[in-house]
Order: sequence, then C-alpha cells, then structure tokens
Amino acid sequence: MRSLGLERYRRVVVLTGAGISVASGLPTFRGPGGLWERPGATIVNASTMQSDPGRVRSLFDEMRALALRAEPNAAHRALARAEESLAARGSTLTLLTQNVDGLHQRAGSQNVVELHGSLFRVRCSNPACSTEPVLLAASHSGVASACSSCGATMRPDIVLFDEPMAAKPEWDAKRSLRECDLFVAVGTSGTVSPASNFVRSAAYAGARTILVNLEPMSPAHPDFHEQILGRAEDVLPRLLESA
Ligand code: APR
Repeated sequence: MRSLGLERYRRVVVLTGAGISVASGLPTFRGPGGLWERPGATIVNASTMQSDPGRVRSLFDEMRALALRAEPNAAHRALARAEESLAARGSTLTLLTQNVDGLHQRAGSQNVVELHGSLFRVRCSNPACSTEPVLLAASHSGVASACSSCGATMRPDIVLFDEPMAAKPEWDAKRSLRECDLFVAVGTSGTVSPASNFVRSAAYAGARTILVNLEPMSPAHPDFHEQILGRAEDVLPRLLESA
C-alpha cells in the first residue's frame, strides 16, 4: 500500500470510530464482541438516562476503567505524527472522533473534536444549567455527584442515542468539513449520524474521500471514492507516512 502523499493536502479531516481502538484492547459497539451485541445488552439512550441513570453510569464506569488500562496504538500514533508534520507545513489535520476513550489525545493529537463527549468528564443533567463539564479524577468512584451551581445530579458527558450533539463540536466539525481537501474515515461502521454523513459534506467540498475499515461499509456510502480494507493499526502508519 502506498502513502497518500499527505504533503499535497492542506486541510485534512480524519473521522475515527471504535475500530481504531480495537488494537488497544477496547471493544467496538457493533460486530463480533461489540458492546451492543453482548447477550442481554440494550442500547442506552436519552430515556434510559431518565429511567435508569445507574445503568448508564455503570456502563460508562466500566468503559472508563478499560480506557484507563489501554494504551494508544500505532494508528493513534500515526495520526498524531501526521498532524505534527502537516502543521510544520502550515497545513492542518482535524481529528473528528466518535470515540470517548481519550486515546487520540494521549497519543499526542492536539486538534481533536470529541463528537460524542468523553468518559473523563461529567456534566450537569439540568438542561437549563450552563455550568461547564467537569473533568473526572482517575480515581473517580462512579458515584453521582451534584452540580456545584444548581444542585442537580451530574451525568456522564456523553451523547446518548436520541440526544443532540453539543453545539461546539458540531460547529467545529462542520467548519472543518467545508474546507477539507482530504477526508479519511477510519474504523467506523458508518451507522450513526451525523458522523455517518460527514463524507457527503467532504465530497461536496471537493475533497478526496477514503474509508479505512476492517470490513466494507454496509450499505456502501456512495461518497467514498476509495475503500481500503484492513486493520487501522496496520494501514494508517503506511498511508500517512511522509514522503
Ligand atoms: N481496524 C479498522 N476497523 C476495525 C478494526 C480495526 N482493527 N476492528 C474493527 N473495525 C471496524 C468494524 O468492522 C466496524 O465496522 O470498526 C467498525 C466499528 O463500528 P462501530 O462499533 O459501529 O463503531 P462506531 O462506528 O464508532 O460507532 C458509532 O455508535 O453506539 C454508538 O456512540 C457510539 O460512537 C459510537 C457510535
């Protein structure tokens, strides 16, 4: 497999999903071993947050414990290196991630947009309260705390099904897509919107669009110009290699 020749691009956008963290020992959501496909597992959504907040918290506590034990892999590191080498040429790499595991930042990526939030933050559950999300200490016990401003219960700062994405990451993602000349999606089944439609905006902006995934997207998205089937940790270091 040949390098993409990253130096030819000025505004690179990479969208990542759970598949990029598999080599770090974290599960995907769909497919074999996927979190939503475990026996008895049901998806947690906005109404679970109302009816059974303890279940939502314990799911994310379990994921946080796994993420804390995990280390960034070769794919995370290749993206951090690519961002650095593009920046040295006055170009940018914006990393839009659906992942909540913090591994991109730990690998050294700086320009990361967390579309679905983070396992390492909590926010006030009161929609009318404007207090900023709070970072969780690594030793966090998973017990619900109260908002220092309004007293409502704090909840994981993670976007659940049937909940809108926060305004800032949505804005940052859209802005980067409008300008991008290369779009690469990695390790995502492409089933969850709005991220599943980002390739459409990128193609509309005139970008070259590439999917890197273990298996073909089903159904295929017509806006991907190229598809590279393989493991992100094998493919990305070669693809993003500088000339
Ligand atoms: N390299 C590349 N791709 C891989 C690898 C790997 N080593 N291992 C698995 N994959 C692929 C799978 O084939 C699958 O298509 O990664 C994809 C993961 O898909 P999902 O589990 O659906 O993950 P994602 O697309 O990130 O899910 C989107 O769904 O439940 C929500 O909020 C959750 O952010 C998540 C969203």
